[in-house]
Amino acid sequence: MSRFNLKCPDKVNFPLTLFNKIDIFQVNMVTEEIKKRAKQLRKQIEYHNYRYYILDKPEITDAEYDKLFDELVELEKRFPELVTLDSPTQRVGAPPLEKFGTVRHALPMLSLNKATTAEEFNDFHRRVSELLANKGGEINYTVEPKFDGLAVELIYKNGLFVTGSTRGDGITGEDVTVNLRTINSIPLRLNNAPVLLEVRGEVIMFKSQFNKLNENRLRAGEEPFANPRNAAAGSVRQLDSKITASRPLQFFAYGIGTISGMSFNSHFETMMYLKQIGFIVNEHISKLDNIKEVKRYYTRILELRDSLDYDIDGIVIKVDNYHQQHIIGELSRSPRWAIAWKFPPQQVTTVIEDIKVQVGRTGILTPVAHLKPIRVGGVTVSRASLHNEDELKRKDIKIGDMVIIQRAGDVIPEVVKVIKSKRNGTEKSFSMPSACPVCGSKTIRIEGEVAVRCINPYCRAQLVERIFHYASKPAMDIEGLGYKTVEMLVEKGFINDIADLYKIPEHKEEILKMERTGEKWFSNLVRALENSKHPQLENLIYALGIRNVGEHLASVIAKRFGSIDNLKKQSKEQLTRVNEIGPVVAESIIAFFKDKRNIKILNKLMEYGVTFPTSEIATGTGKLSGKNFVLTGTLKGYTRQQATKEIEKYGGRVTSSVSKNTDYVIAGSDPGSKYDKALELGVNILSEEEFKNLLSD
Ligand code: IVH
Repeated sequence: MSRFNLKCPDKVNFPLTLFNKIDIFQVNMVTEEIKKRAKQLRKQIEYHNYRYYILDKPEITDAEYDKLFDELVELEKRFPELVTLDSPTQRVGAPPLEKFGTVRHALPMLSLNKATTAEEFNDFHRRVSELLANKGGEINYTVEPKFDGLAVELIYKNGLFVTGSTRGDGITGEDVTVNLRTINSIPLRLNNAPVLLEVRGEVIMFKSQFNKLNENRLRAGEEPFANPRNAAAGSVRQLDSKITASRPLQFFAYGIGTISGMSFNSHFETMMYLKQIGFIVNEHISKLDNIKEVKRYYTRILELRDSLDYDIDGIVIKVDNYHQQHIIGELSRSPRWAIAWKFPPQQVTTVIEDIKVQVGRTGILTPVAHLKPIRVGGVTVSRASLHNEDELKRKDIKIGDMVIIQRAGDVIPEVVKVIKSKRNGTEKSFSMPSACPVCGSKTIRIEGEVAVRCINPYCRAQLVERIFHYASKPAMDIEGLGYKTVEMLVEKGFINDIADLYKIPEHKEEILKMERTGEKWFSNLVRALENSKHPQLENLIYALGIRNVGEHLASVIAKRFGSIDNLKKQSKEQLTRVNEIGPVVAESIIAFFKDKRNIKILNKLMEYGVTFPTSEIATGTGKLSGKNFVLTGTLKGYTRQQATKEIEKYGGRVTSSVSKNTDYVIAGSDPGSKYDKALELGVNILSEEEFKNLLSD
């Protein structure tokens, strides 16, 4: 039954003589004996992987393991026909991909409803009990930690790992098979497995390994990951699986999808089976028969949380019995038989050693608390934004205060409150400076706004932020310009405005003398600069950094006005005629083009070869102008072409996939994954009736 009968497979050493024969005669034909040896090595290596990665009880030394591994690599190199998909040598990664393929999940990968209090958990239990009243017998719950990683699905056909995918939108995920194959705790072959088995679980990175990885990255001058979850997700979603292979990842199984040729009665039973066939099932999984026990479990795991080597953000409670699960049923996005009971955000106390002011791209001054470094939620925190002057006053924060800070998931840490009882009179009040800490210009606070601003557009801090923004991915996408590098380039006086970026090649010699630079980096940067010279209009508009114009508005503006030249000519009235442009945005746009310095920069950009594209102006000024629609399912009264025509008649646009830029999803009968995506992103979903009303309104 089990993949490993926990006895090491045949350990007899391969007769040396055979290798000698191969060497002497250069025989390149695979003999039965060689085949047998390769198979035997594979079995032994997988057995030792299991001892090491799953049970954490190795039986042999690393050197002995390496010897077996090297022998197999050598054999496979000589006889490539011996390489099988499940060979442990295949865990090292495959050639890089251009992009990920997609995998449609046979059964949707649902998400979980959340409870944040005991009352909300009680409500869940009440609902479950009502739905099962007179139908189901006793309720048992399987409880387990809620891992904070990346959900994936592994498909095994006849025991062989064939496809691995991310959860994606729950219906369709990305094909990350080659990457998942590099994770040692994912078995490549299962013995005596069902014909088809889909295993679901979470890819995570242990906190200890995450810390080591970040130390190495810092040493190599690379950006550290924010937290283990980002590190795990980023590593799995790598186009180059060799990078994934170099990252220490783990897989915890927490359920199954489709299974054929075998069946189970309960979740707990399934989990024990998964454990038996070689998956890591979390050691804290339990089956409990009353809610008092569940509450006790919640408290126990909450107490354990910090001592675990992996991040968890709550517990998951599942009705154990599959028949009962079936009776209770599912909603379109989440089952009614399970709930995630989340932990409160982690809080710790530390001291505010100083409050410093940061100057942003638009000149806004933000007070930032410099904290005595402290670990919270798996990462070390040493800064927390205090947002603005009002917030600072409201919380009555002083330098030297002992404070409670919290961090929920990967949310930026925040100061919850001051522990006033710890004050000893040495604390110092802080007020926002009347001069910019970077350029010394006077700062102002516009009436009605909370922000204090530096109004010198030449301020170095603003310049760094503006350049960093210009180079960012949704703007001109110039890779290779890290924040520190931009700071240095500005500091040295090579860059005084965004257009100066294109003069970087002229300063090659001096730049190469700076820290964190190198020939290869430089030539890549020059190429990236060159490639950025032909942007899409929406990216260019966003890159200019017009106040209040974010990514979405930039794309609306591009579609509505079609070119920078045309945008420049618009009056406030003309601008506000567009649905999403209000008076504040309109004024920002006008102020931007009125400023001669900006016009000079635009001219300079053109001079250096940046093309100012034109895009097709959305037809009509109809009531749907600037609105993006997506159609899914079958409409009764319209064909797809007819619906598209109607939308376009009123100035709207129909696109094929749902994104955060989508304004409406029109859902007919039998909607597909676009419907779920819309739910996930909170996009407006209209029925056919509502769509008709919108048109005739
Ligand atoms: S069960 C229908 N069990 O939570 C059941 N999920 O909000 C669906 N997660 O995307 C999943 N630990 O990535 C389950 N022990 C656990 C889990 C777990 C973490 C994640 C999972 C999923 C999300 C659902």
